[in-house]
Amino acid sequence: MLRKFGIVAGLIILLTACQPTPTFLNSASPISSHESGLYWIILIMAMVVFVLVEGALIWILVRDRKRDGDEELPPQLHGNTRLEITWTAIPVLLTIALFIMTIQTASAVAAPLQMKTDLNLRVVGHRWWWEFDYLDLGIATANELHIPAGTTVQVSLESVDVIHSFWVPELSGKTDVIPGQHNTMWLKGNQPGVYLGQCAEFCGTQHALMRFKVFVDSQEDFGAWVADQQTKVYAPRTADEEAGQKIVLDACIPCHSLDPAEVETKKVGPNLAHLFSRSTFGGGAFDLNEENLRKWLKDTQGMKPGNDMSITVSSQEFDELMAYLTKLK
Ligand code: CUA
Repeated sequence: MLRKFGIVAGLIILLTACQPTPTFLNSASPISSHESGLYWIILIMAMVVFVLVEGALIWILVRDRKRDGDEELPPQLHGNTRLEITWTAIPVLLTIALFIMTIQTASAVAAPLQMKTDLNLRVVGHRWWWEFDYLDLGIATANELHIPAGTTVQVSLESVDVIHSFWVPELSGKTDVIPGQHNTMWLKGNQPGVYLGQCAEFCGTQHALMRFKVFVDSQEDFGAWVADQQTKVYAPRTADEEAGQKIVLDACIPCHSLDPAEVETKKVGPNLAHLFSRSTFGGGAFDLNEENLRKWLKDTQGMKPGNDMSITVSSQEFDELMAYLTKLK
């Protein structure tokens, strides 16, 4: 039994060590530092209470135990008014203090009434990928969000199908993404870095593969990224690329867009205009490279069962398609 437990515990440690698990304790934003601050205060208070109460309990058990040779029970105490008032008053005061700190934290992380917003972002949840629309900048992307460091981003959240939940542990708490409702939140990254996000509300078979990345860029890097995303879609230069573009227009465009400025459509699939500017695809589940994209186009249902995509192409069309798609940077 003990050995089995040891093996399971070892496996858990091994598996969790494979990928660093993002946590709000590695806070990289004002929101998560409010949250982790409150967490530590509550944890330390709880530990002090635990040590004092358990310590007193053990001390009394030892001090007042029945010793060898004792004929009768030790003297019994009933009702000590001063003690009872003390151990009622202290928890009440602690609870009031926690209540006040919790309200303060909740109002600090809620969207401020007079938000000074530098960037408006719309997040749309789809089964199972994330659409990111930059309403002021006229660009749309998927599964990889870029925001400038130190900038407050106002986020509105919508869903086209079921309830999802937007969560970037190191940057923000969870906010539900509900069909027919506009929830709002704000985001701010202190320092440039890459932070992992995950859908946090069960939304179907591929819920676990509804991930995303948030790139907090320096102001210059963000400006350069926006300029790249605003450029027109790549125009084919070879016969293969041209044939590939035709396949995309015929087979993909009903569900995807090739127009980087098309932000209002809530299409079934991600905007492909700058596909290869991203590092992942399929809801952040796979590294984006030619090999994986080929696999995906051959057997999308095998790689991510239940997703909305299906495509059948001959092997010649396949090469043409890849010739074009890999140029969409
Ligand atoms: Cu979307 Cu879980």
